[in-house]
Amino acid sequence: MLSRPRRNRKSEAIRNMVQENYLTVHDLIFPMFVVEGENQKIEVASMPGIYRYSLDLLLQEIGECVSLGIKSFCLFPALPDERKDKYATECTNKDGLYLRALAAIKNQFPEVALMTDVAMDPYSSDGHDGLVSDEGEILNDETLEILGKMALAQAEAGADIIGPSDMMDGRVQHIRQVLDQHGFSHVSIMSYTAKYASAYYGPFRDALDSAPKFGDKKTYQMNPANSKEALIEATLDEQEGADFLMVKPALAYLDIIKLLKDNTNLPVTAYNVSGEYAMVKAAAEKGWIDSEKVMLETLLSMKRAGADAILTYFAKEVATLLKE
Ligand code: PBG
Repeated sequence: MLSRPRRNRKSEAIRNMVQENYLTVHDLIFPMFVVEGENQKIEVASMPGIYRYSLDLLLQEIGECVSLGIKSFCLFPALPDERKDKYATECTNKDGLYLRALAAIKNQFPEVALMTDVAMDPYSSDGHDGLVSDEGEILNDETLEILGKMALAQAEAGADIIGPSDMMDGRVQHIRQVLDQHGFSHVSIMSYTAKYASAYYGPFRDALDSAPKFGDKKTYQMNPANSKEALIEATLDEQEGADFLMVKPALAYLDIIKLLKDNTNLPVTAYNVSGEYAMVKAAAEKGWIDSEKVMLETLLSMKRAGADAILTYFAKEVATLLKE
C-alpha cells in the first residue's frame, strides 16, 4: 500500500497539525430576541435555553456574551399584536422597543458589531415579510419603500450591519441607496441572499409570534429544490452593493454555502436557524445524542462548507466551551 491516510490520523498532535478548519469565537453571531417590559426572561418553548429578554436583562446577557468573547449580535423584536399593523408602521418608531434597544446596546457596548433584521414580519399584522395587497399578493416595490425606511431608522439608531431577510427583489440596492443618501455609507449590508422557504423556521416564528396569517412565503423565499437560483441572487446582491452574502438555513444547505463561496469574493455567512437548534436540543433531551459534540460538529461543517461566520443560537454555549 503506497498511501496510508491513517498515518495522518495516528495521534492528536498529527491530527491537529493537519486540521483544515476551525471554529472560533470570532465566527459567531448571536441572534437574540427582545421583548417589552422590565425584568423579563421568557424561554422560547421550542428553543430550550433561548430567551426573549426585556432590554434591561438583554443588556446584562450581552455583557456576559461579550466577556466570553462574542462580538457580534443580531437582534429581533418580539412585539405584542397591538403593535402590529398592515404597514409595519412600528418599525420606524424611535420610541419603540426595537430602535431603543439597538441604541442602548450600541451605547453600552460600542465595540460590538450589531446586526438588524429588515423585513416586515415582526411588525406585520399579516405575518408576511412584505406588504400584502387586497388580493393577498405580496407587493414587491411597495415593500421596498417600507424596507428602506426601516433600514434607515435602524442605521440612525446605531446599527452596524443591516440584515434584509425579506427576499424582495431589488432590496439591497434600494437600502444601499437610502443609506448612502442619508450619510450612512459606512453601514454594512448582510443580505439574506439565498433564503429558502423552509420548515426549519418554525421555532423562530414561535419566538416572535410571527407566523404568516395566511398562505406561505413561497412567492418570495426560494424553493429548497433549487441551487442555480442561489447564484442569480448572489450575482444580484453583489451588484446591488451587499457586503456579505448569507445562506439560510445552513445545515440542509451546505452545498449552497459552498456554491456561493466558490462563486463570490465576498464573505459568505450561514444562518444555523431555529429548527436546527431545536432538533439538537430535543434529541439531546431524550438522551439520544451528545448535544455539545453534535453542536460543534454541525457548526464546523458549516465552516468547512465555506462559511466565514455563522449566526447561531448556540453562540453563547460555544463561546463558553471554547473559553474553558
Ligand atoms: C423573517 C425571518 C425569519 C427568520 C429570520 N428572519 C423567519 C421567516 O422568514 O419566516 C428565521 C430565523 C430562524 O429560524 O432562526 N424575516
